[in-house]
Amino acid sequence: MPEIIIVKNEAEAGAIYGRCVANLIKAKPDAVLGLATGSSPLAAYRALAEIVTAESIDVSQVRGFALDEYIGLPLEHPESYHSTIRRTVIEPLGLDPAKVRVPGDALDGAPLEDGERIAAAGPAYDRAIEDAGGIDVQILGIGTDGHVGFNEPGSSLASGTRVKTLAEQTRVDNARFFDGDIDKVPTHCITQGIGTIMKARHLVLLAFGSGKAEAIEETVEGGVSAYCPASALQMHPHATIIVDEEAASRL
Ligand code: GLP
Repeated sequence: MPEIIIVKNEAEAGAIYGRCVANLIKAKPDAVLGLATGSSPLAAYRALAEIVTAESIDVSQVRGFALDEYIGLPLEHPESYHSTIRRTVIEPLGLDPAKVRVPGDALDGAPLEDGERIAAAGPAYDRAIEDAGGIDVQILGIGTDGHVGFNEPGSSLASGTRVKTLAEQTRVDNARFFDGDIDKVPTHCITQGIGTIMKARHLVLLAFGSGKAEAIEETVEGGVSAYCPASALQMHPHATIIVDEEAASRL
């Protein structure tokens, strides 16, 4: 079972992640970090950046792989996950941008109709992760419906990186990044699969606020099921779930 840590706030959670990853980079300067977008990991990235600066840790060799990307957004679109990872992780931490990849990098806004190119991008991404020696620490948020990355309910727990349709609820949740207009939210994405995520050596899932309480309950206390993709964490040998009291309120 995952280890559950209940914290007072996001800063406390961030400090735990920051210390864990800073120690990893000291021991393994070319550590491979699994990166996520969303608001949940932001305090963790800030904490890590502060430790890296305070302790003058050399991050020039650190590598990174993001979880997911929208289909159809050019890389330079401000809400593409390529741009988001650059803004929230690469720049504050001072990582080498050439060492950080996002699943849509080879697509750059290619439309869904560009089927062959889009279908090839997923397996190529999984090969790149394997060639890097696998992910050391994968940070995860969780959707209100229990999705991780963009693996919506019903996703195969053995899946690799592939194209998925976004659930209506996720498009509603994410419309806030697109002027509140759901019609501007892409309909498809490319995401690491649950099988890809499960290969990371350490998973750290962060969730805050009462809106996540039901998803966390299903993740920890429900049966392992594709209907709550995050429940696969129950089968991982080294998973840590860090939640505040609100997100833990149904446990
Ligand atoms: C998006 C991302 C997920 C993220 C989720 C929750 O759907 N693809 O990786 O976990 O949002 O976001 P937040 O942390 O902002 O609640």
